[in-house]
Amino acid sequence: MPPVRALWFDRKGLELIDQRALPNATRLRTCRTVEEVADSIRTMVVRGAPAIGVAAAYGMVLAERQGGFTPARAARLLASTRPTAHDLFVGIEAVRSAWAEGEDVVAAADRYRRSVVDECHAIGEAGAPLFTRRPRVLTHCNAGALATVEWGTALAPLRVARERGADLFVWVDETRPLLQGARLTAWELSREGIPHAVIADNAAGLFMRAGDVDAVIVGADRIARNGDVANKIGTYEKAVLARENGLPFYVAAPRSTFDPGTRTGAQIPIEERGEEEMRSIGERQLMPTRSRARNPAFDVTPSRLVTGYVTPLGVMKPGGLGPIFRAARRRPAADRA
Ligand code: MRU
Repeated sequence: MPPVRALWFDRKGLELIDQRALPNATRLRTCRTVEEVADSIRTMVVRGAPAIGVAAAYGMVLAERQGGFTPARAARLLASTRPTAHDLFVGIEAVRSAWAEGEDVVAAADRYRRSVVDECHAIGEAGAPLFTRRPRVLTHCNAGALATVEWGTALAPLRVARERGADLFVWVDETRPLLQGARLTAWELSREGIPHAVIADNAAGLFMRAGDVDAVIVGADRIARNGDVANKIGTYEKAVLARENGLPFYVAAPRSTFDPGTRTGAQIPIEERGEEEMRSIGERQLMPTRSRARNPAFDVTPSRLVTGYVTPLGVMKPGGLGPIFRAARRRPAADRA
C-alpha cells in the first residue's frame, strides 16, 4: 500500500483523515468553515505539528471565503487551538500575510503545504545515511505522514533508508494517553510492511539495556534557539534513557518547527489537556472516579541530550543550529504564545 496522505483541499473544503478513529476505521472529516478546522485541530482529528500548520493554512482560506472574518480574527481563532507546536503559527501566518496583501490565498496555502512535504522528503534524504544495514530504531508518538501530510519527520529517514535497502526494525512506543504510537505509527508501518513491534512506554529502558535498540528518532513540536526540544510527553525520558545506554538520540523537524523567537525550552508553552483523556479508553474506565489526573501533552528535552537534528538542510549538532534558525520561518512578534 502507498504511504498515506493526512489531508487534502478540494471543492468540498479541507478533507482530513479523522485520526481519532484509526486504526479501527478510516473516516474522513470534511471541514467547510474555519470554525470546523479549529475544532478539528483542538479535538485532534488532525494532529502532529507540521500537519496542524497545513490544516490551519487551509482554515485561513475557508475563513476568507466565508466572509465575516478579518485575516487577524481568523488567525486568532486558529492560533487559540493548541499552544505548543510552532508550525501551527507559521502555517497561519503563511496565509494571513497573503490575505492581508490581497494575494491568492489558495495559492499561498498550497505553497505552504508543498514546502512542508518537500522539507519532510529532504529530512528523509538527510537522515537515511544514519540508518544503514539492520538498524533497530525506537520512536515515540507519531511523527509519520499522518503528522506531516506526507513522509513524516522521524519516519521519513526510515522510509528512505528502507527504499535504499536497509533491513530496519522499528520499536514503537505506544504513547499514552492517546496512543499515537500504537494506533497511528503502527498503522502507517503496517500498511507499508515495515517490521515493527509496539511496546508499553515504560518498556523502552528494558530493550535499550538489553542491547536491542541501536538509535532513537523522534519528531518535535517546537525547537528553541538553544536546541531544547518540545515533543510528545515521554520524549524526555527516552532521551535520558538513550544517553544512559550510550545510544544516539535524533530529532527530525522541518524549518517551521524551529522557533527563533524562543530562547530556551523553559519558555515553550506546554499544553495541558483534559483529565478525561487519562480517565478512560473508549468505554473502559481506568481509574477511580474520585482520583484526579494530570495530562501534560508535551515535555522538553534539553539540547545536551540530542545527538543530532535531522533537518531539510542536513544533520546538525546541538550548538550548530545557526543555519536552520537563519532559514526558519518567522511569525509576527505580536502573535507569540
Ligand atoms: O499531540 P500530538 O499528537 O499532536 O503530538 C504530536 C507529536 O508530539 C509529534 O511527535 C510532533 O508533532 C512531531 S510530528 C512530525
